[in-house]
Amino acid sequence: MKTKDKYLTVSDVAKLIDVSPDTIRRWGKKGLIKSIRSKHNYRLFNIDEVKRLNNKINGVGGSLNDFKILTTKDRTNYNCIELFAGAGGTALGFHNAGIKHKCLVELDKNCVATLNYNKPEWEVIGGDVKDVDFSNMEADIVEGGFPCQSFSYAGKNLGFADTRGTLFFEFARCVKQIRPKIAVGENVKGLLRHDNGRTLQAMIDSLRKIGYRVVYKVLRSQYLDVPQKRERLIILAVRNDLSLPFLFPKEKDYTVSLREALKDVPKSRGQEYPSKKKHVLSLVPPGGCWRDLPEKIQKEYMMKSYYLGGGKTGMARRLSWDEPSLTLTTSTAQNNTER
Ligand SMILES: C[S@@+](CC[C@H](N)C(=O)[O-])C[C@H]1O[C@@H](n2cnc3c(N)ncnc32)[C@H](O)[C@@H]1O
Repeated sequence: MKTKDKYLTVSDVAKLIDVSPDTIRRWGKKGLIKSIRSKHNYRLFNIDEVKRLNNKINGVGGSLNDFKILTTKDRTNYNCIELFAGAGGTALGFHNAGIKHKCLVELDKNCVATLNYNKPEWEVIGGDVKDVDFSNMEADIVEGGFPCQSFSYAGKNLGFADTRGTLFFEFARCVKQIRPKIAVGENVKGLLRHDNGRTLQAMIDSLRKIGYRVVYKVLRSQYLDVPQKRERLIILAVRNDLSLPFLFPKEKDYTVSLREALKDVPKSRGQEYPSKKKHVLSLVPPGGCWRDLPEKIQKEYMMKSYYLGGGKTGMARRLSWDEPSLTLTTSTAQNNTER
């Protein structure tokens, strides 16, 4: 069978592995399997990928994926400055790719303490990026998951200056002062449509104006060996005088479940829910949501949202052991947020 023949319609795939077409659609909707569109706009699924998921979920002779945390033993000659480092998620990826951190900048003192604790060898500048002068620094790469703020792109076409006052401006200022070979920006997928695309365009224009070729792409982490569904817009910029190619990672044909990812982790205190929320969620099975609660509790817990339309499947939602985690938020204890 040629690879292209391995893509089949929902009903053909369902027949072949003996599950209902609705199951295939549900797996697709949940982001557990990918699909492509046929020329007649039908969804097509890769049969090997679907078989593998079926084995995993239904235990049909299935085994866990052979996933690895991608880490190179060889260090590269590249070094990097990381802005908005948070607790070091992206920084760890760069480190695992063999890239040396020259310094990291982060405002939040708990994040700084976490970075210092986990990686005492990294130089962390704890403070506001606006106060950091990069003009005497050098680096091959500048990376930053700049928090996205609204700014008015009044059509002035000023590029860099249009973004003044935002944290993107600080990212671009760092790129302008350092002139790295490569700059990598990271943001939420919503930036694509923010102000009808003008915000993103202004960012791209400003990087172009300071001498970079720019591309961007939304990456889906659950297909890249990450046990979490998280879509992020990645902006890649390469300095105009270099002919480096733009390469994005190729999506895998499997996802990593929480069961696999958390297999050997030590016990941790984690974050506690308030007692009322804890009680409600104890009534929901793993992978379930508000629909699994008795009606009286549904109404009490969801209040006005109970009467709104839509599936609301994010409410009172528990993670499933057999799937990647849903996107984690910073405040699990907030109203209407369980993770
Ligand atoms: C979206 S998070 C980045 C997460 C990071 N990439 C990671 O992997 O954990 C943005 C970070 O920017 C930090 N931040 C916000 N304003 C800042 C500022 N003015 N200067 C430095 N850091 C700032 C926040 O504290 C937060 O940790």
